[in-house]
Amino acid sequence: MDCRVMCVVLLSFLVCAYAEHVKYVDCGSQEGKVLDVDIHPCPQQPCQLHKGQSYTVNVTFRSDVGSQTSKAVVHGVIAGVPIPFPIPIEDGCKCGIQCPIQENKVYSYVNQLPVKNEYPAFKLVVEWELRDDLSKDLFCIKFPVQIVN
Ligand SMILES: *[C@@H]1O[C@H](CO)[C@@H](O)[C@H](O)[C@H]1NC(C)=O
Repeated sequence: MDCRVMCVVLLSFLVCAYAEHVKYVDCGSQEGKVLDVDIHPCPQQPCQLHKGQSYTVNVTFRSDVGSQTSKAVVHGVIAGVPIPFPIPIEDGCKCGIQCPIQENKVYSYVNQLPVKNEYPAFKLVVEWELRDDLSKDLFCIKFPVQIVN
């Protein structure tokens, strides 16, 4: 193979390995539109989350409204039951979003998902909402994960 071709192949592999586009379900983004969801690292889907590690979640969305604030609410859904999943920073305005949020602008919300050692090794669905001033969802996404030892 030509060296330059090799380079391009390697580079595109590196870019792909860096951010994984995750298959997600929109669970009712009332005030925005989700454009992309990346989780890193997540080489295979559903994402395998190792206990004691932290994962970067990057949700790119367009807001349909203006909002001074944004607050993230995360649940782990196990057998259909949503259980609150604490994240270190709830304030979306401290997670890559420049507030106030403006109508029709695209934002990337970037936060960490810490996986505690006491979590059970389980398959579950993560439900991640970002709420605006009126507590309506700028986005609501769901994606399956597997917690592993
Ligand atoms: C988040 O994802 C968007 C769209 O894929 C990308 O442009 C942006 O650089 C990512 N941000 C981070 C911090 O990874």
